[in-house]
Amino acid sequence: MIDLIDIEKVYQTGKKSSFIALRGINLKVDKGEIFGVIGRSGAGKSTLLRSVNLLERPTGGTVIVGGDKLMALGEKQLQEKRKRIGMIFQHFNLLTTVTVRDNIAFPLRIAKISTNQMKARVDELLELVGLTEYQHHYPKQLSGGQKQRVGIARALANDPEVLLCDEATSALDPQTTEGILTLLREINRKMGITILLITHEMGVIRSVCDRVAVMDHGQIVESGTVLDVFLHPKNKITREFVSEVSDTFGSEAVGAYQVKGQMVRIHFRGDQTYEPVLYETVRRTNATFAILQGTVSKMKDVPYGQLIVELRGSDAEVNRIVEELGEQGLEVSRL
Ligand SMILES: Nc1ncnc2c1ncn2[C@@H]1O[C@H](COP(=O)(O)OP(=O)(O)OP(=O)(O)O)[C@@H](O)[C@H]1O
Ligand SMILES: [Mg+2]
Repeated sequence: MIDLIDIEKVYQTGKKSSFIALRGINLKVDKGEIFGVIGRSGAGKSTLLRSVNLLERPTGGTVIVGGDKLMALGEKQLQEKRKRIGMIFQHFNLLTTVTVRDNIAFPLRIAKISTNQMKARVDELLELVGLTEYQHHYPKQLSGGQKQRVGIARALANDPEVLLCDEATSALDPQTTEGILTLLREINRKMGITILLITHEMGVIRSVCDRVAVMDHGQIVESGTVLDVFLHPKNKITREFVSEVSDTFGSEAVGAYQVKGQMVRIHFRGDQTYEPVLYETVRRTNATFAILQGTVSKMKDVPYGQLIVELRGSDAEVNRIVEELGEQGLEVSRL
């Protein structure tokens, strides 16, 4: 649905000075997925996101959205295309002097649709984001979460195929963030809208995204499914992001405990998370085990668990357990 090929963005910062904000970005977002880009401040996330609808025109590369090469379009065609690419912002960017209803109607007015159609569409959008009761309020009378709901309704007004989210929850508290993320997932699922979001919070990536790319200094340094990137972060900056969400841990979590047997870390994913795989496997030997640390969590809808376990038995038994767990599709690493 979105295909960014060799994107480069050079900002002219002075007569003779320039700054390379994006270099050699290649990114493919499939139809219907929620794709997240994470990076520190200044990494180039907003520049990248704004390249997708050409709010920021790349200085090199190709931007393809829904099969159209955007940089080749004329001004009028680009205007039309942009209607199909919704966008929401960290600070909402609402019109402060008009009501919720009129904010949502704004893009429809520009699209010059009939009054009746407009009314019906706005009613539908108000319902979708749960703001029917607030339709005659002004933005200043709303909470942050409600303002973002207005932003989302406005972005969806023209029935876009893609929704771009620039730090959509960064100004919100954790609970409100959860509400907005739930709404984004619903929109993605029910309407099939492809979502590309950028954030500096790994928690956001974990709770809504299917795939993630990690950005640093204008480049993508790592990408993959959220589960893979979480469980096997390769880049230093990715590891830092992952460690910011507290339920991942290393052997240091065991502290001063004197380990007698072989300590292993086991990753479970999907339905395995809830099966007694470990118990059943160890039971077939004379070994025993002690759980030193454990957690079960979810990446979007996929449950996963991590356990740090001490296997107590002969080397042969421990080897056999590690091997058999591997054969059953679990990831086991010796610590
Ligand atoms: N118009 C501009 N002219 C010159 N440099 C710019 C311009 N816009 C952005 N930059 C620079 O490009 C780099 C990337 O900026 P960008 O806004 O894309 O980062 P970001 O990852 O979105 O950061 P944040 O998390 O703080 O929003 C920064 O170093 C920024 O200073
Ligand atoms: Mg930004």
